[in-house]
Amino acid sequence: MDSKIKILSDKIAKAHLGGGTERIDKQHNKKKLTARERVNYLLDESSFEEIGILVTHRTTDFNMDKELYYGDGVITGYGTIHNRLVYIFAQDFTVFGGSLSETHAEKICKIMDLALKMGAPLIGLNDSGGARIQEGVRSLGGYAEIFHRNVKASGIIPQISAIMGPCAGGAVYSPAITDFTMMVEHSSYMFVTGPNVVKTVTNEEVTSEALGGAHTHATKSGVAHTTSSNDVECLEAIKALLAYLPQNNTKTTAKIPTELNDEIRTQLTEIIPSNANKPYDMHFVINGIIDNDSFFEIHKDYAQNIIVGFARLGGRSIGIIANQPLHLAGVLDVNSSKKAARFTRFCDSFNIPLLVLVDVPGFLPGTDQEWNGIISNGAKLLFALSEATVPRVTVITRKAYGGAYDVMNSKHIGADINFAWPNAEIAVMGAKGASEIIFKREINDAEDPISKLAEKETEYAKTFANPYRAAERGFIDEVILPQDTRRKLLKAFSMLEDKKVDLPKRKHGNIPL
Ligand code: COA
Repeated sequence: MDSKIKILSDKIAKAHLGGGTERIDKQHNKKKLTARERVNYLLDESSFEEIGILVTHRTTDFNMDKELYYGDGVITGYGTIHNRLVYIFAQDFTVFGGSLSETHAEKICKIMDLALKMGAPLIGLNDSGGARIQEGVRSLGGYAEIFHRNVKASGIIPQISAIMGPCAGGAVYSPAITDFTMMVEHSSYMFVTGPNVVKTVTNEEVTSEALGGAHTHATKSGVAHTTSSNDVECLEAIKALLAYLPQNNTKTTAKIPTELNDEIRTQLTEIIPSNANKPYDMHFVINGIIDNDSFFEIHKDYAQNIIVGFARLGGRSIGIIANQPLHLAGVLDVNSSKKAARFTRFCDSFNIPLLVLVDVPGFLPGTDQEWNGIISNGAKLLFALSEATVPRVTVITRKAYGGAYDVMNSKHIGADINFAWPNAEIAVMGAKGASEIIFKREINDAEDPISKLAEKETEYAKTFANPYRAAERGFIDEVILPQDTRRKLLKAFSMLEDKKVDLPKRKHGNIPL
């Protein structure tokens, strides 16, 4: 019996060594943790249960049968994070560069199936040279099996991808389908084709980092939802994010027991400048409303004219979408519309109520925007918010102009409660632009057109640059003082807690993708 136990313990010890000490050292030299270290760091102590530790690949081509590693380059299993069940896979770069073989894919699919059956989040830690080159199409089939499961699980269980090394070629599409892609700066990169292929096809010279590093995807493409400066920070970010999410689409996020402080937040009265054209940082408004230090921002460096992220209000998880006057005056454009639409759909899928803070001068004009499809991209946000059935509350802090007023969670597209601050301006457009159009003849005929325009501007602003026309119509439910906003929101979201909407049966809507 002893010898049988020894056989087992030898195998386990071998599996724990992955591709061997030399390759582990290489991984550490790159300031990266190994797959096993990552799993152990991420999950609650001693909670990890590994599935398939003794799996090996089945390839015989290229003498591959002489090179077998237990686990076949991916660690899979389940455990807990803050006592909540999660399923996890972590690619092991020390074994064939974490490349994906048929069996490697089977292992991932097995835990994806379990995650879906049990209704628990799936976390993938990606660190892989892509398809196992020695396996050809079997490896490609493996990817597709994963993609298909990612899609089937979408909107049912939260799926989080961390990119902690290479992620190239077809490998990028699993993270892209999942809900969140979290990258590590300087040690991860994602691209469909690498710098060499780019050089051959387009003659562009570009480094891996510039083509698909964390900074690029966080600022230019929006592929990365968060970035972290190292592995540990990234794993901490996963834990933090998970705390805002429910286990699955039939659950709500647990309320963090908190002392309900519904105090007046006087700091909110100081934020909006008296000059309507002056910018201010909407983060101050967000932080003035939510539970202290509870904001977890998504896409922080991408399309910064809109802010999206999770927060807690009275201990409950909410999603926040807010125009940011500090960037492009908070205008809606192609990227900000896409960013907010995707966030809206995530929150709606997972029963996370939405708070929308509005200070929007309209849509960004210009050929660039029109040619890049501001019409269909703006419509994404309109569609996503219109369709959302979670509790939805709006606060107009300052401007709400034109079509952007409609889009930003207006009453007309199904918001439940709409507030405005007393200095809100709700109109078709700003006073100057409006006056130039509707008083054109009067201004042109005037002896002094400039002072006539100023006079008309004042007249228009007096009539429309306020929240009262909208409040009289019931488009705004209440004009509230900034300092009362937290209290009002606590009550509104509490009132909406059991909101239930039964929709007629359909396969799915046709969001303008
Ligand atoms: N299939 C099989 N083995 C792979 C692999 C793949 N796709 N990618 C890497 N490996 C192996 C390497 O052969 C090497 O094996 P060794 O430890 O026995 O020497 C090990 O993984 C580490 O790779 P290495 O190239 O030494 O690491 P690196 O950090 O210098 O470079 C990559 C990493 C990912 C940039 C590089 O390995 C690469 O370009 N891989 C191929 C990417 C690709 O084209 N994939 C297929 C298309 S999806």
